[in-house]
Amino acid sequence: MRPINPLYGPAWTSFELLRYDLHSSFDHQSSPLAHTHFLLHHESMMSQDDKYEKLYQEARNCCGEPFPEIAAFFEAYEKEGAQILDLGCGQGRDAIMMARHGHNVIGVDTSETGVHQMEEDAKREDLQVRGVIADITSFEIGGGFDVVILDRVLHMLAEEDRITVLSRVMRRAFQGGFILIADMPSNKPTYRAVFANGSSHWTSVLDRRGFLFMRKDFAN
Ligand SMILES: C[S@@+](CC[C@H](N)C(=O)[O-])C[C@H]1O[C@@H](n2cnc3c(N)ncnc32)[C@H](O)[C@@H]1O
Repeated sequence: MRPINPLYGPAWTSFELLRYDLHSSFDHQSSPLAHTHFLLHHESMMSQDDKYEKLYQEARNCCGEPFPEIAAFFEAYEKEGAQILDLGCGQGRDAIMMARHGHNVIGVDTSETGVHQMEEDAKREDLQVRGVIADITSFEIGGGFDVVILDRVLHMLAEEDRITVLSRVMRRAFQGGFILIADMPSNKPTYRAVFANGSSHWTSVLDRRGFLFMRKDFAN
């Protein structure tokens, strides 16, 4: 029997919390347990680094397969050998999939274990994936990217950090490049406003449930 958290009901295992981070908050407002989930989520934010480090040490491939929306994007994406930045890459489920399409991926995460596992998996298949152990709120990378992916990481940051990180990568995207966001639907109005106020024009290519995929238009 699971221990009972006197404030929020049954305590969740770290694996259940990850599943929540990945999936449940897409439908956050419609869940009858939304309030409990919300509190648990914020309680868990106090030890994000420890949580993921522990999870990744316990099991490989904690996050499962890439979301179908993200996989479909890369099935249809025609550019060859694209430069891709994966912020909050975790164990690299997206990074490995993208590199299998022939792209060059840099994956950044605070979890040393996650980054090392991603690099090991990439090495086994001779894929172009480089890992960086860093906090994305302070990480500043040079160069530009065809695609920047933020898969279920922005909601873990403070709101001002979400805006800072998104604004920074918007400047790093090449013209014609993409930013792919998977996050809580309730955060999407903020992201849309950041794109609308950017110095370049951005077009939405997917805006559904927890997904917001934007393309940076070519200058006129
Ligand atoms: C829900 S997991 C998603 C992992 C991966 N994007 C995926 O979809 O498989 C969130 C990841 O974000 C990372 N993370 C959270 N805050 C971070 C930060 N400030 N800087 C870098 N990584 C961070 C965590 O370590 C964790 O690996």
